[in-house]
Amino acid sequence: MTVHFIGAGPGAPDLLTLRGRDIIASCPVCLYAGSLVPEAILSHCPEGARIVNTAPMNLDQIIDEIKAAHDAGQDVARLHSGDLSVWSAMGEQMRRLRALEIPVSVTPGVPSFAAAAAALGAELTLPGLAQSVVLTRTPGRASTMPEGETLTNFAATGATLAIHLSVQNLTSVVSDLTPAYGADCPVAVVYRASWPDEQIIRGTLADIEARLGKEVTRTALILVGPALAGEGFTESCLYSVDYDRRYRPQSADSPWAGWTPEDETAHG
Ligand SMILES: C[S@@+](CC[C@H](N)C(=O)[O-])C[C@H]1O[C@@H](n2cnc3c(N)ncnc32)[C@H](O)[C@@H]1O
Repeated sequence: MTVHFIGAGPGAPDLLTLRGRDIIASCPVCLYAGSLVPEAILSHCPEGARIVNTAPMNLDQIIDEIKAAHDAGQDVARLHSGDLSVWSAMGEQMRRLRALEIPVSVTPGVPSFAAAAAALGAELTLPGLAQSVVLTRTPGRASTMPEGETLTNFAATGATLAIHLSVQNLTSVVSDLTPAYGADCPVAVVYRASWPDEQIIRGTLADIEARLGKEVTRTALILVGPALAGEGFTESCLYSVDYDRRYRPQSADSPWAGWTPEDETAHG
């Protein structure tokens, strides 16, 4: 018996991985975080599966469900939104399961920041503008932030920020970021990326609050940084006509002259 943690993706049912779909189809028990996991994904569960929405449950109750499945020798598909590596609560469940010696597996999912960037048609790392993406959040009712992980500290890097769980704190986000990024820095808020009711609100640090209005209060990502402008960046060397590289040696003197992809296969 195994508990299979599966990233269920950002919302669109077809943004689930094939591996995730197949594991769900093989598990007689499915626990899903109902606040964000789309119900359509549950259609992959086998007929007669026990399907439990864990949104109203506490950690003890969730582990009890898993223990019952374990005692019955039944595999469990455990679904969380997006990917499991960020804000999934997988860590605390896994710690308990390891203590109980219940085997686990992890299948990644499409994270919401990637779905939001796709909705915007944006590359978040544009040469000369930003080469890092910071996945972060602001403090919430149930979560404090470790000292040092402040927006002002991250802003000092000038990186693209993907700020989760924070649209309700937009006023403080704007005031923390404006000194470093400037009032004209581009911002995009993406509400429910990939869902049928997805909304995109673009603006700058100066006007994003006015543009957003009061309707969007949850399930949105705030993306901030110069890369959001989608212009003013340099082209990468990788595809430059005269860039000497393994796949495109530029002269007979190149260290890669005569190299073929088969060489790599042969030599590891
Ligand atoms: C508990 S976290 C889950 C993050 C998830 N594990 C991931 O990989 O994106 C929930 C937050 O992720 C963001 N989020 C999740 N799904 C989203 C979506 N479809 N569109 C925009 N933001 C989303 C929002 O900031 C939301 O408050």
